Amino acid sequence: MAVLGSAGRWIQLTRSSVGLCVRRRSTAAALAQSAAPDTQDNRKPKTGILMLNMGGPERLQDVHDFLRRLFMDTDLMKLPVQNKLGPFIAKRRTPKIQEQYSRIGGGSPIKHWTSMQGEGMVKLLDQSSPETAPHKFYIGFRYVNPLTEEAIEEMEKDGVERAVAFTQYPQYSCSTTGSSLNAIYRYYRNRGDRPKMRWSVIDRWPTHPLLVECFVEHVRNELLKFPEEKRDDVVILFSAHSLPMAVVNRGDPYPQEVGATVQRVMEKLGHCNPFRLVWQSRVGPMAWLGPQTDEVIKGLCERGKKNILLVPIAFTSDHIETLHELDIEYAQVLGEECGVENIRRAESLNGNPLFMKALADLVQSHLKSNEPCSRQLTLRCPLCTNPTCEETKSFFTNQKL
Ligand code: FES
Repeated sequence: MAVLGSAGRWIQLTRSSVGLCVRRRSTAAALAQSAAPDTQDNRKPKTGILMLNMGGPERLQDVHDFLRRLFMDTDLMKLPVQNKLGPFIAKRRTPKIQEQYSRIGGGSPIKHWTSMQGEGMVKLLDQSSPETAPHKFYIGFRYVNPLTEEAIEEMEKDGVERAVAFTQYPQYSCSTTGSSLNAIYRYYRNRGDRPKMRWSVIDRWPTHPLLVECFVEHVRNELLKFPEEKRDDVVILFSAHSLPMAVVNRGDPYPQEVGATVQRVMEKLGHCNPFRLVWQSRVGPMAWLGPQTDEVIKGLCERGKKNILLVPIAFTSDHIETLHELDIEYAQVLGEECGVENIRRAESLNGNPLFMKALADLVQSHLKSNEPCSRQLTLRCPLCTNPTCEETKSFFTNQKL
């Protein structure tokens, strides 16, 4: 098992019986609270980059508010009498989720990593794109502070001229990026005001070459940690958050885009090992996109494939689904139950400098393109019934850049 040592280094602990190696953040809360040093310069920013993500509770006492906002998000899920049922489910689930966060050190490290990535990105942008400098990053989380709406207010207050809504989900889903974009549109609609800034969107980047390169590097590094004689036998499982089939069947582009990332990564790896794309984090009784990561681990072990590498492919920073679900529930507990020989998890992209370069490159090429968004964003899901989606798309496509 690998844990984060007091000096912030990964320490490998091995379970000799099964060769089980998982990674766990024992000081996630401490890390989350020690925000990256504020090195953004104090000049008036010309370009503001709003890094969009769902966010995660930094402290156990934030879990309830996080869940309440999540279950109230009608872009993410539709529940009957949502304004009553949403808070009820949030309250009921809070103790269980708090327990999970306490096992990974008491909180989510996503703000810590996003701050570090943002710092790296704007430093590179200030050098490579002086015509759009100074650049400043803002964090816009959907369900915890700093909330998207607060970040927009700060951008307006800072006098940003050019605003880029930059999703931190490489693959687009209406449940994630779509929900964040709807939040930006609603902010202005509710204020009855036009934005002072000129907005555009980086709405997806599933096959960006540097993103692919980062995943390749992390897969290679982890493969090298398997015993040499087992390495060729390793099955690579790319694991992404699943979606309800109702979302998939209305035409959400996410499954195709996750598949595109996986394909590029495997091509770049020269198809060194067999692989599958699997889906995790299913909840509730409805049908979800499969096969499920845990069932696949079980099935592989039953068929004698007992060396497994898990690769989180749809989130770029560590979060509860990597640190708890993959590392503890699957690699540690399930792996042991199934009798795996070796199960490891590729590191999330977190503080990788190449990843910061990828982010900077995406923003620079986007600004140069002078396009408000990708062509894909202009098309609604063929079976979409959410009128806000259409209004959000018009909001962004009608921006005068
Ligand atoms: S749900 Fe996809 S565009 Fe509305």
